[in-house]
Amino acid sequence: MDSTEESEMIKILLQYQHGFFISKVLLTASELGVFDLLLESGESQTSTMIAERLNTSPIGMERLLETCVGLKLLRMERKGDKDYFGNTKFANLFLAKSSPKSQYNYLKLFSEIGYSSFQYLTDAVREGKNQLESIHGPSTKDFFQAMYSSEEKIEKYFSALGNTWSLFGREVVSAFDLSHFPTIYDLGGGSGVLAKECTSLYPNSTVTIFDLPQVVERANKHFVASKEHRITFQEGNFFKDPVLKLTCTFWLESCTSGMRKVCAVVYKTSQSLQTRWWSVDS
Ligand SMILES: C[S@@+](CC[C@H](N)C(=O)[O-])C[C@H]1O[C@@H](n2cnc3c(N)ncnc32)[C@H](O)[C@@H]1O
Repeated sequence: MDSTEESEMIKILLQYQHGFFISKVLLTASELGVFDLLLESGESQTSTMIAERLNTSPIGMERLLETCVGLKLLRMERKGDKDYFGNTKFANLFLAKSSPKSQYNYLKLFSEIGYSSFQYLTDAVREGKNQLESIHGPSTKDFFQAMYSSEEKIEKYFSALGNTWSLFGREVVSAFDLSHFPTIYDLGGGSGVLAKECTSLYPNSTVTIFDLPQVVERANKHFVASKEHRITFQEGNFFKDPVLKLTCTFWLESCTSGMRKVCAVVYKTSQSLQTRWWSVDS
């Protein structure tokens, strides 16, 4: 092996070894509100000013900000004998809370749950089973049971999903022309983000969101406006309850392994009704 090849490999090694540093820096700055403060203030600020406003130690904030500059999340300019920090376009677009494409809630969910869950990856591989009980406490059998254990958690989960759809929701619902389908069933439709995209893109379609009772209750009350008559709800458990009421188009997204199981169950039932299917992998 020549020395160029080895130094390339060392570069990759260092990137992989320290990869989580990057996401943790991003999550920390986001959680502390650095990007929101800099967007709202509209002008660059010194690390001391930022630390004071965000109630952190001056030295800790200074180091965090400098690292963010290295990652191109922030920019820094020297004025007089002081360094001033401001958001990059990237931070304004994706990291500040008030941006329509903000990923703040998604980052927060990952910071609070995703990051710590990955500590159990070795155990999961060794044992060949999920680590929900270690992550969320004893008797947690199901991911959604953990996510829906309080109103606040439901809110957090769907706000996070909503963030990701703000990036590519429109592309997903327009990937196939669904305009000739008057009724669309969104299985596991959650808060209705995609249902709203559908009704906006297909003015002649109505969407029925099928989801667990606690999600339907919340979505009906808080996520989908009552004047939105083209979105309706059906609550149930698609592993146990009948889903089909009429001949319609099914649209499944998030075909994770669990959802594939669902596809199989519903597809079998629907064949007798000559239902047409679209499946969109996320
Ligand atoms: C990954 S989330 C996607 C939510 C929504 N489609 C979105 O992208 O925002 C999967 C959805 O499936 C629902 N779900 C999971 N298991 C279910 C079941 N057994 N019966 C009905 N809905 C279920 C969850 O409540 C959740 O809303």
